[in-house]
Amino acid sequence: MASYSRSCPYFHTDNITSLVSVKLDKDNYLLWRSQFEPVLNTTGLYGYVDGSIPCPPQHNTNRHGTKDVNEEYVSWRKQDQLIVSMIKVTVCEKVLSEIVGFTSSHAVWKYLKSQNASPSKSCKMQDKMSSDCHTVPGSTVCVTGAGGFVGSWVVKCLLERGYTVKGTVRNPDDPKNSHLKALYGAKERLALYKADILDYKSLLDAFHGCRGVFHTASPVTNDPNWYCVGKVLAEQMALEVSKERKVDLVVVVPAMVMGQLLQSTINFSTMHILNHLNGSSKTYNNAVNGYVHAEDVALAHALVYESPSASGRYLCLESTHHREEVLKILAKLFPTCVDEVSPKLKPYKFTNQRLKDLGLEFKQVEKGFIDIVKSLQEKGHLPILPRSKL
Ligand SMILES: NC(=O)c1ccc[n+]([C@@H]2O[C@H](COP(=O)([O-])OP(=O)(O)OC[C@H]3O[C@@H](n4cnc5c(N)ncnc54)[C@H](OP(=O)(O)O)[C@@H]3O)[C@@H](O)[C@H]2O)c1
Repeated sequence: MASYSRSCPYFHTDNITSLVSVKLDKDNYLLWRSQFEPVLNTTGLYGYVDGSIPCPPQHNTNRHGTKDVNEEYVSWRKQDQLIVSMIKVTVCEKVLSEIVGFTSSHAVWKYLKSQNASPSKSCKMQDKMSSDCHTVPGSTVCVTGAGGFVGSWVVKCLLERGYTVKGTVRNPDDPKNSHLKALYGAKERLALYKADILDYKSLLDAFHGCRGVFHTASPVTNDPNWYCVGKVLAEQMALEVSKERKVDLVVVVPAMVMGQLLQSTINFSTMHILNHLNGSSKTYNNAVNGYVHAEDVALAHALVYESPSASGRYLCLESTHHREEVLKILAKLFPTCVDEVSPKLKPYKFTNQRLKDLGLEFKQVEKGFIDIVKSLQEKGHLPILPRSKL
């Protein structure tokens, strides 16, 4: 009986069954995953199954030119095998016989996901759950501004966690929202509602029957002063009204969000990057900003919603960078002009510990820059260069 993580030494493979009470069979994948995934997230092990913590090389070459066993490989393998064991004790015999030959947790995870790619099977169970569950995956929630950059990621994350989602958009028929219908689980569990945040009645229709609302809709202007005033006033008002009406309010405060564009349109923070890449912006401010990957922003929303003890504000950023540093990172991905600025504004201090305490493992934001450049190329906003570094 071995503990499987140094960061979580109390956790044993034989108590996984107390956290994952469902035995995976052919019909309950989403339900099983909705119990298994939070365990992996809170223990920092999700990267093993999704492949973002890859297997290190088995050997290192020493200074004599011969090969030594790589200790990192040994501990990675041990950890990975424990995850495989955890999965195996939470599946029924029939599924066990299908995964018996897989040697890594990533391979098992991928296989189970592919076998359940048709959401219709797994969703029957979720649909049954949706009427009586609270903050657990499977309940019905609303996402305002569902078609926006952040909103789309929040919808994607919630669908993948088994929720039924009512998404508000100002025009459900606008092709710019069509990407939402292609998301995993959308066919069965996503409905789009026409709503304007200035129209109370339209929102009421969308909120009807929901256990929670993820409010991402907001006018995003290119006037930083108006934008900030708008955000502060909206948050203050939400706080006052939630106190008055005893509504549980938790605020996620992301810094600049970087990552793949799920939607076809370009939101303001992405436009800011694109303008540097296509040469429209010739200068940049002597400024420091915080940055975070869009996937982490979406997961942060799900985690605060699912944690009964979550309250107050959650700063959501992985790192801060001076604009010059950002341009240098971008220049490695796509030809970009970077002039040096001197003296440079100093970075500011921040803490993202509150979200880490809920189990969020922030992705390095460099990945967000790579994803954004790739996405802009794929959607035709930037040329794909012959010797692209991506
Ligand atoms: N992107 C970032 O770097 C970043 C950083 C921190 C915080 N945020 C916050 O994240 C949220 C989303 O931003 P985003 O970057 O995803 O921007 P976005 O892509 O422009 O999304 C904004 C969304 O708000 C909707 N919206 C605007 N006015 C509305 C109204 N009157 N009624 C209903 N919907 C309305 C838009 O709907 P339509 O499609 O109908 O126009 C759009 O879906 C905002 O609250 C923003 O302040 C973003």
